[in-house]
Amino acid sequence: MSAFVFVLPTWPTDVWKNAMTKVAPDLDVRIWPNHLGRIEEIKYAAAWLPPANVMKSFPNLKLICSLGAGVDAILGDPTLPTDVPIVRVNTADLTNRMSEYIVLHVLMHHRQQRRLDANQKSKIWDSFPTHAASALNVGIMGMGVMGADAAVKLTMLGFNVLGWSRTRKSIPNVKCFAGQELDAFLGQTDILISLLPATAETDGIINRALIQKLSHKGPFGAPIFINAGRGRQQVEADLVTCLNNGELYAATLDVFNKEPLPEASPLWAHPKVTLTPHAAADSDPETICRYVHQQIMRFENGEALDNLVNRTRGY
Ligand code: NAP
Ligand code: GLV
Repeated sequence: MSAFVFVLPTWPTDVWKNAMTKVAPDLDVRIWPNHLGRIEEIKYAAAWLPPANVMKSFPNLKLICSLGAGVDAILGDPTLPTDVPIVRVNTADLTNRMSEYIVLHVLMHHRQQRRLDANQKSKIWDSFPTHAASALNVGIMGMGVMGADAAVKLTMLGFNVLGWSRTRKSIPNVKCFAGQELDAFLGQTDILISLLPATAETDGIINRALIQKLSHKGPFGAPIFINAGRGRQQVEADLVTCLNNGELYAATLDVFNKEPLPEASPLWAHPKVTLTPHAAADSDPETICRYVHQQIMRFENGEALDNLVNRTRGY
């Protein structure tokens, strides 16, 4: 007898249970914390933002599936069982939606859509000069599944695309930097995008010192920052300072140090900030459940798991 459990403190569990039951009618689906049944029977868990100590409460757990691409919340549990493999979600749908978000916001800044919106509101007919996509260098920090896909799509629109990751990538028409080459990457970047995971190494990486290394040679005279990775990567007080003093031209922020973003944050009403509520990319429950079920089947058949998390790297 083996059972599967959803640990979803912030998501509607009935929607997920229905989706999994549709995808895998024979799977015994339990819900934490109120519909656990005999806890010894739980072999598989799927989680988003699980509270600490929950995973260790399943004594026979064999596999953890992260329902997000980022696994920082799962790895942040100090009592997480050390011998249980963790796979993270990675579906074409999730990746496409992230690339949509990145392309949307790069184009929004490039085509100065917020200026056009303000002009329309004030009935101002101002057809200001524009520039070609090729006038902008777009630099992506984090060239994994999502960064690489967004990079390719941006090149198709004519942007000059640069990427930075821990290990060097080779992607047609993308200038790839690795590790210690960060400063060289930053110096050529007009629009900086973070698609990094949250790890000890990336915490606070987007700070004033880093922003000062970005290119000022682009058409806006100052760099633009887009964060769809994790909020822990940005020092929010530094972002506000740089937006106020002109070291940053504008920012699009989807992720924050604290979510939901507290009402008192100056980012909410900052005229140079476009803000979205950690909504850059998600996927529908059925698509994700199909992926999770595939991983369970792989595990049961002794096959290699997809997108296995490396606990030492933290992603
Ligand atoms: P991934 O495939 O694991 O890619 C992570 C990338 O970051 C890799 O290229 C990795 O380098 C690089 N990296 C990690 N640590 C680094 C460091 N210290 N220095 C330089 N590069 C480093 O992850 P993914 O699927 O693309 O997802 C990326 C992140 O997006 C997730 O972790 C999550 O936080 C975020 N996300 C956000 C949303 C949203 O709605 N806002 C949705 C989905 C995901 P290597 O390739 O060399 O290992
Ligand atoms: C969302 O933030 C994810 O990590 O998938």
